[in-house]
Amino acid sequence: MIIAQLSDTHINDESPEAAARLRAAVTHLLHLPAVPDVVLITGDCTEHGSETEYAHFRELLRPLTIPVYVIPGNHDDRPRLRALFGPQGAQAMPDFVQYTVEAGSLRLLALDTHVPGQDGGTLCPARLQWLEERLSEQPERPTIILMHHPPFRCGLAPFDGIGLDVMSEFGTVVARHPQVERVLAGHLHMGVQRPLHGALAVVCPSTLHQLLPDFRRPRSLEVSFGPPAMLLHTWAADTGLLTHSSLIAEPRPVLVMHDGQQWQSPPWPVRG
Ligand SMILES: [Fe+2]
Repeated sequence: MIIAQLSDTHINDESPEAAARLRAAVTHLLHLPAVPDVVLITGDCTEHGSETEYAHFRELLRPLTIPVYVIPGNHDDRPRLRALFGPQGAQAMPDFVQYTVEAGSLRLLALDTHVPGQDGGTLCPARLQWLEERLSEQPERPTIILMHHPPFRCGLAPFDGIGLDVMSEFGTVVARHPQVERVLAGHLHMGVQRPLHGALAVVCPSTLHQLLPDFRRPRSLEVSFGPPAMLLHTWAADTGLLTHSSLIAEPRPVLVMHDGQQWQSPPWPVRG
């Protein structure tokens, strides 16, 4: 099972950059040695949540013939996203983009932290209760939670000011359910991770621009249009769940160091 995660695609009508970047990400994904089984997009699919942006977003995803699941970020429009993608998974909450997906040995729980008109995120008591109930259903099954707003503070004040406002309540639920292996988020436009009650909380870089980690005080916020990345979460019985970063760069020849049978001697042959 290979689950690709993209985030913060920010498709907009003003600049072709975001669309070009998502197109490159889709091309990259389809040319991986093994095409993923599932694609997750953890929010900020569009910049303004307009109908034309969503239509463009969906058009850019069309080359993907594998299941794609999306959740809203602060830049999205919940009704439009719901209208375009439908309920997506099972056990969907009627008023939110919150649903379950059975993905082989794994269970995916998609959460909706969107607050209309605000950049910060939340999970109301009803959404937290839904999470508690879903996690109680299959306590033995490795589970991945996805949500746009990370469940931890990143230390960058401007972003912590628009973070999830129920980190403690969310963490309390996760702590009760050790089958939670990953909490996948976006929002920060940078690759960062930390433990969370036995799970690993992981933020996926954006396909558009990257926030540069700045550890000076006070911390500025600087962005770069350097190489974006996606995450590949792989599950196998002998490895468990692993999370890889895959940089989305210009296509280059792939050289075969080991062909599955034996090591190859340099110069390594080019994969056909
Ligand atoms: Fe974003």
